[in-house]
Amino acid sequence: MALETSTRPHVLSGEEIVALCRQYTLYEWTAQSAVDPIPVDHAQGVYFYTPEGKRYIDFNSQLMSVNAGHGDPRIIEAIQRQAEKLAYANPFMAHEPRALLGKKLAELMPGDLNKVFFTLGGAEANENAIKLARTVTGRPKILSRYRSYHGATAGAMALTGDPRRWASDLGTSGVVHVLDPYHGPQREVDSAAESLQYLEETIQLEGPNTIAAFFLETVTGTNGILIPPDGYLQGVRELCDRYGILMVCDEIM
Ligand SMILES: Cc1ncc(COP(=O)(O)O)c(C=O)c1O
Repeated sequence: MALETSTRPHVLSGEEIVALCRQYTLYEWTAQSAVDPIPVDHAQGVYFYTPEGKRYIDFNSQLMSVNAGHGDPRIIEAIQRQAEKLAYANPFMAHEPRALLGKKLAELMPGDLNKVFFTLGGAEANENAIKLARTVTGRPKILSRYRSYHGATAGAMALTGDPRRWASDLGTSGVVHVLDPYHGPQREVDSAAESLQYLEETIQLEGPNTIAAFFLETVTGTNGILIPPDGYLQGVRELCDRYGILMVCDEIM
C-alpha cells in the first residue's frame, strides 16, 4: 500500500534498480518477462521505502522473516557486535551464539523437543529433515500433501505438492502425495474424519513399514492459508503414532 514520500540518499533510481535486476538476475516462480518488482531502498518499523521515498506498509514482514520490524536498533547493534567479534565460524565449531540460541529454543519448544539443527532457510531444513527421517526409521517413503509448498531445492520441491513441482518432478523422489481436507472452491471441505480415512487408506496401500514420515504445514501457507478442520492434526498425530511414522510440521509462521 503506497502512503507517502520521503527522501534519502541513493545511487540508482528505482527504475534503474528494476531494470538492472531484471536484466542480470533471475526471479523465482515468475515468467521472467512478466516480472515487475517493487524497488526497495530502506525500511523502518512496519514500512519500507523506494529510492524515491514512496512508503509501503510491509504487511508480510518481507517473507515472514522480519517479524520484529525493520531497523530495530537492538537487533542492528547485536549484529554489529557479533560481526566485529566473530563474523563466521564453520559448522564444526562451538560458539556462544549457537550455545545460547540452542538453549533458548529448547526452553521454548514443548515437551522433549530440545535439540536444534540450524540451517539457513526452510528448504534446507526440510532437506535435512528428510535425511533424518529416513535414517532414523530405515524407511524410504515420505508422505506430503498436494496443496503444499516446502521449498525449491530438489528434495523440498519433491515434497511440494502444488504445480510448481511438475517441471522438476521425475517421479523418483520416494515422496507420495496425499489429498488435503480442502479440494478447491467447487467442492466442500472434507471433515477431519473423512480426510483421515483417506490418509489411513493411503498409508495401508503404500505399506506402513515403507513410510518414514508425513511432512505437512499445519496451516497451509502459500497455497492459500488453509486451516484444517478441527481434529485433523490430532488425527494425523494419532495415525502417525499408530503406524510408527514421524509427523514433521513444516512451519513458516
Ligand atoms: C512452509 C514452507 N516451507 C518451506 C519454505 C521454503 O523456505 P525457504 O524459501 O527459506 O527455503 C517455505 C517458503 O515460503 C514455506 O512456506
